[in-house]
Amino acid sequence: MNVGTTMIKSRRSVRKYRTTTIPPHVIADVLDCGRLAPTAMNVQPWLFGAVTDPGLLHGIADLTDHGRFIADAALCIAVFGRIGETYYLEDCCAATMSMIIALQNHGYGSCWVAGDKKPYAEAVRELLNVPAEYSLVSLISVGAPAEIASPQKKRLEECSFKDQYGETKE
Ligand SMILES: Cc1cc2nc3c(=O)[nH]c(=O)nc-3n(C[C@H](O)[C@H](O)[C@H](O)COP(=O)(O)O)c2cc1C
Repeated sequence: MNVGTTMIKSRRSVRKYRTTTIPPHVIADVLDCGRLAPTAMNVQPWLFGAVTDPGLLHGIADLTDHGRFIADAALCIAVFGRIGETYYLEDCCAATMSMIIALQNHGYGSCWVAGDKKPYAEAVRELLNVPAEYSLVSLISVGAPAEIASPQKKRLEECSFKDQYGETKE
C-alpha cells in the first residue's frame, strides 16, 4: 500500500460540513502547497485568497450557481490567475488540485467550485477587492466533512491506453 496514492484515490468532493474553524497554520500550509505547484516557465501567475469571514462566504455563495454550500464552509480559497500569462489557467488548476490534496491530508473535506468561464467570476473578484489584472479560476470550499458522496468513476480501461490507442492489450 502506498500512503500517497491511497490518499489521492480516496479523495471525494465534500459539500456538507460540520461547524468548525480551520487553524491558521493549516490554512498557511495549504496555501504553501498551492504556491509550490508547477507552472509553465515557472511564472507562478497566481493569487490565493483565504476567505473565512462569514459575510464574505455568504456573499461568494450567493453569487455562484452550484456553490451555495460555500455559505456553510469554514474557509473558501479563491484562486486567481494573472490574465495575459499564457498558461495561467493550467497553472492555477495545478495549484487548486495541490491545495485540495493538502486539505485532505490535514483531515478537511473540500470541493472545487467552478470560477473560470462563470458569469460570476468578475463579481467574486470585485467582492474580494482583487485587482482587475487577475481573473477567478476556481473556488475551493473547505470544512470538516459531515457527508461524503461517492460518485461513479470510469474504469481505468475505459480512459487509458498503452503506447498507441486501439492496440490490443495482452
Ligand atoms: C473545473 C471543476 C469545476 C467544478 N465545479 C463545481 C461546482 O461548481 N459545484 C460543485 O458542486 N462541484 C463542482 N466540481 C466538483 C465536481 O462536481 C466533482 O469533482 C465531480 O462530480 C467528481 O466527484 P469527486 O470530486 O467526488 O470525485 C467541479 C470540479 C471541477 C474539476
